[in-house]
Amino acid sequence: MEQKINDIIKRFEESVAKAQTRGEVAAAAASATGPNGELTALMKTLKTLPPEQKPAAGKLINWAKQKIEPLILEAYSRIENAEMAKSLGEEFDPSLPTVDVPRGTVHPLTRTIRLVCDIFKRIGFTVAEAGDLETEWFCFDALNTPSDHPARDAQDTLFLPSGAKSGNISKHSDERYLLRSHTSSVQIRAMLKEGAPIKIVAPGRAFRRDTVDATHSANFHQIECLCVDRDVKLTDLKAVLDYLFRSLFGKSAKSRLRPSFFPFTEPSFEVDFMSDNMGRLSGKWIEIMGCGMVDPKVLENVGLEGYTGYAFGLGVERVAMLTHSIDDIRHFYANDTRFLKQFSK
Ligand code: PHE
Repeated sequence: MEQKINDIIKRFEESVAKAQTRGEVAAAAASATGPNGELTALMKTLKTLPPEQKPAAGKLINWAKQKIEPLILEAYSRIENAEMAKSLGEEFDPSLPTVDVPRGTVHPLTRTIRLVCDIFKRIGFTVAEAGDLETEWFCFDALNTPSDHPARDAQDTLFLPSGAKSGNISKHSDERYLLRSHTSSVQIRAMLKEGAPIKIVAPGRAFRRDTVDATHSANFHQIECLCVDRDVKLTDLKAVLDYLFRSLFGKSAKSRLRPSFFPFTEPSFEVDFMSDNMGRLSGKWIEIMGCGMVDPKVLENVGLEGYTGYAFGLGVERVAMLTHSIDDIRHFYANDTRFLKQFSK
């Protein structure tokens, strides 16, 4: 009996191993445990055995059935896996990360850029963008910045090696290339492209030869704002600034302008704001950005004589640091997810 059972198991194991389809597995299973299977036939012979042998023989047959059943299930799942792999095609890459990996969050600087752009979109501004690589004309000359201005010094601005040409971004062939030191160059590109009237915000990176510390980074972000039309006045600028600060820092926010100088605006101002929502800075004037009325010389450089306008440049890191009470600019660039995760909704 034992010998017979071992032979049945052996035959079953061989045929199930060869099975390539569900049908072949079913046939192998039937030949052992089906109504006409070998084990079933053996079961039927039990009654012919002497009574004292019956229990042991019955046990043996049950043991064989228990050995066979998991092999049948295993064969079905082997075939199922093969079918799945086939239907996914050759490109299926089992090393790809699963959909269950933790989701990232939007970077606080991106969040701040989106927030400010949305505030301006509500009052009819559109978003303009240009590349990080600029020429001296767009970054300085067109913005009425003379060649002996300190910002044009290699100590302050990151110039590309002389002779470097990267794409056809300039009409002025003898120029040096640089990493834009402010986003004001987008004013020029936008006015040349679209003329006036124009209302844009231009978010993007800017670069300066700054020594990195808690408040300085050689690579930072600005949002430039430009509005040019007939009869744009300083009061329009003040109104838009108050709207911006109320949107960012709450209803109590107000702003003040202090005289300053930028080559591309006249008059020029430093802007301070104050709000009751600023924690330990509440009720104090906080310096935030530079602004002014677009210098007529700039408008002339882009063929928009007779128009007037205002412009300002907002530091994205500064706004993000103020809105979230962040004390060190370097947190933004350290890629530490423990920091970055705190800004997810
Ligand atoms: N570009 C200036 C800066 O980076 C800011 C500014 C923009 C000032 C527009 C006036 C008008 O400091």
